[in-house]
Amino acid sequence: MKVIGIKKPLEKEFLNHIEDLVDTEAVKEMKKIVHHGKTTTFEHCLNVSYYNYLICKKLGLDARAAARGGLLHDLFLYDWHTVTLANGHALQHAKRARINAEKYFDISPLERDIIEKHMFPLTFYALPKHRESFVTTLTDKYCGALEVITHRWDKLRRK
Ligand SMILES: [Fe+2]
Ligand SMILES: [Fe+2]
Repeated sequence: MKVIGIKKPLEKEFLNHIEDLVDTEAVKEMKKIVHHGKTTTFEHCLNVSYYNYLICKKLGLDARAAARGGLLHDLFLYDWHTVTLANGHALQHAKRARINAEKYFDISPLERDIIEKHMFPLTFYALPKHRESFVTTLTDKYCGALEVITHRWDKLRRK
């Protein structure tokens, strides 16, 4: 497994935190759904999961919940390029991901908050309750931007 912007092998501790989730059908389903550029939803979630782990470990926060919540934060399980939701994907998908995460896994209240609040401040009414959730709002945007830029850059280089 590879994380965007990271060349060194991923820590065993990080892999231990997420290994039971990675092999499930629900998480594997995210490999079939393209998210940003050419990045699949699984790759994006793994990127967020890893940066969550690194930052939360450094800050003395719950790195395990941050890694697990990060991996499940976009478990909405539909192609947002083709499926139209009543209130739009941007506002709705975090809730959808939380519902799926609860359906398929036994998630903690902290993991639930990380998943459901990750679109803050766009979803200003869903204020994160935990520092790990705030970290996720940043890692999600950072990884998303990096994924789009990398994709555009690859396209430009091929021209
Ligand atoms: Fe998201
Ligand atoms: Fe995301």
